[in-house]
Amino acid sequence: MADRYLHLTGTAPGKFLTRKLGLPQPTRLRRWTLETPALTGPVLHLTAGDSAVTRELAAILTATGLEVTARADRPAALVLDATAVDTAAGLAAVHAALHPVVRSLAPGGRVVVLGVRPSPDDHHQAAAQQALEGFVRSLGKEIGKGATAQLVRVAPGAVASAESTLRFLLSPRSAYVSGQVIEVTDAAPDEVADWAAPLAGRTALVTGAARGIGASVASVLARDGARVVCLDIPQAQEDLVRTADRLGATALPLDITAEDAAERIAAAVPDGLDILVHNAGITRDRRLANMPAERWTSVIDVNLDSVLRTTDALLKAGTLNRGGRIVATASIAGIAGNNGQTNYAASKAGIIGLVRSLAPRAAAGHGVTVNAVAPGFIETKMTAAVPLFIREAGRRMNSLSQGGLPVDVAETTAWFAQPASTAVNGQVVRVCGQSLLGA
Ligand SMILES: NC(=O)c1ccc[n+]([C@@H]2O[C@H](COP(=O)([O-])OP(=O)(O)OC[C@H]3O[C@@H](n4cnc5c(N)ncnc54)[C@H](O)[C@@H]3O)[C@@H](O)[C@H]2O)c1
Repeated sequence: MADRYLHLTGTAPGKFLTRKLGLPQPTRLRRWTLETPALTGPVLHLTAGDSAVTRELAAILTATGLEVTARADRPAALVLDATAVDTAAGLAAVHAALHPVVRSLAPGGRVVVLGVRPSPDDHHQAAAQQALEGFVRSLGKEIGKGATAQLVRVAPGAVASAESTLRFLLSPRSAYVSGQVIEVTDAAPDEVADWAAPLAGRTALVTGAARGIGASVASVLARDGARVVCLDIPQAQEDLVRTADRLGATALPLDITAEDAAERIAAAVPDGLDILVHNAGITRDRRLANMPAERWTSVIDVNLDSVLRTTDALLKAGTLNRGGRIVATASIAGIAGNNGQTNYAASKAGIIGLVRSLAPRAAAGHGVTVNAVAPGFIETKMTAAVPLFIREAGRRMNSLSQGGLPVDVAETTAWFAQPASTAVNGQVVRVCGQSLLGA
């Protein structure tokens, strides 16, 4: 379903009228295209206090191919290194760095603040670093014009491990990601031969790939160079084959809840799997008082239990190669809860539990990372079926005043999937335009 309001506010009379009425003013987001794969404009590299990583950060920013400068009239991005801020008084440097330049940020620009993990041993440092979270989340809400703001916590001395994350955030690929706090460990990233095809030589399997978000994930992983296997239920075979054929991918008609799902997946990837995307999901909404057990069980089974079962079996069988990536699909409903979705929200919150618990062990035992995307309101058949007023509220109740597109979830998945994202592990990143729900 097209977002007609977004179209209206893009016209001069529409803009005038909606402004007069005090209605939301969404800016059409610029996503990745072959012609414009990067932000257009320089990155302003700012520092709060005496940072120990200034040179290292400058080198990474320069490696992105963007022009890095200390002064610009219309920067496309503001990167503030706040890793050295460790007292409440030190926060003044955050204000001093960004206050004079924030207004000059180009429409659709990016603000990325670099911090470190709040310390369990130093409550002054912890207060100052936690303060950055509130700061960034508020900035994301007020900045407007399609701009976004994030906090990236780096491990001391390991800014290089954040390169894939900085590249993602400082690109059109992260257009619908805002207000996020991303922690990056000190794990060394794998070499990337070609940043334009970072998944070359990798094999990916995407569940629920016949349509919607899954089809887009398959398409973006293929664009980034992966060999893709598209899995969906046999009833969706026609769409599945069409999607797979379009991408030069393999179709695997299979119900992910089947007893032998993991064996069938393993058989389809004789050289093992590098990227496993658990995207298949269903809703069976009813308030708890009206919900038969079958609705509860089917949602938990597809959205959570099958993810646990196949993940365990594929890890145990060694089907996931070292350096592998598991990306699961949560939802903001799993964070905020939602009326009529006790089953769905339980299943999606369960995904978050799985990711946080398994990530360190999967990395230590198998060299595999485990992360989740948590989509907000994404324009798909699922959300087109939502009644008009609820749909309109879902679309607008976020900092970017619009719904996301399947490709936004796909781009975030592709960033998790990169060989260079070894240090991104156990993260739940919302792709929700900084939805007010559960914020
Ligand atoms: N659309 C949104 O706004 C939104 C928001 C938050 C989370 N999500 C999640 O994103 C994922 C994709 O959502 P979507 O909007 O593209 O949904 P969709 O209904 O368009 O697509 C889901 C796909 O999963 C497949 N599937 C369902 N059960 C399966 C099974 N047992 N085995 C294999 N495949 C199965 C379906 O056939 C379908 O092709 C889901 O996990 C969903 O919960 C979506």
